[in-house]
Amino acid sequence: MRKFRTFRKFQWPAALFLLCLPLAAAAHSGATGIVKERMDRMKDIGRATKVIAGMFKGDQPYDAAAVRAAADAIAELAGPAMTEKFPAGSLDKPTEALPEIWRDWARFEQMAEDLRREAAAVSALAANGPAQFGEGYLFDTSSDAPAGPAATRMLATCRACHQAFRQKD
Ligand code: HEC
Repeated sequence: MRKFRTFRKFQWPAALFLLCLPLAAAAHSGATGIVKERMDRMKDIGRATKVIAGMFKGDQPYDAAAVRAAADAIAELAGPAMTEKFPAGSLDKPTEALPEIWRDWARFEQMAEDLRREAAAVSALAANGPAQFGEGYLFDTSSDAPAGPAATRMLATCRACHQAFRQKD
């Protein structure tokens, strides 16, 4: 049996990130239209991310099929599927989106696309197990690279986009 190194580097950022999810989920009853649609999709992404992070943290036993399914779900909701839910100026309450999105649309699109690519990498590497071996493996989908670095990178993209384009609670 192959053994995987512990996932220390990942644990703190993942724990902090998960703490933020329930807060976010509480904040927006009353949304309608496109704002509600994208909030609902972000919530779906949040749920899928919890599945993945729980396993990389070691809270649940690692289940490659579940990681793959969750990562596929995120990839499908990222990229253009995400950005099309942000038509120019769609800032109806209770949105947490910031007007910076349309001032720096290229960067917003790039981050949505990064998320799509990174989630696809997590899916492709899921069968190799969770271990964290470092940057060199990040998008090496042809080897037996572990899924950990790609998952770490994916969570960093969630955070980076929220920091730039979403109101703080
Ligand atoms: C390209 C930018 C971008 C990326 C990447 C991104 N988000 Fe978001 N996210 C947003 C924006 C903007 C909002 C606020 C949407 C609104 O309130 O209209 C948001 C809101 C949310 C919410 C709150 C939903 C709600 O009901 O208010 C959750 C949860 C969330 N994101 C989770 C995630 C997770 C998990 C990831 C990574 C796997 C992620 N997001 C990646 C931009 C992004």
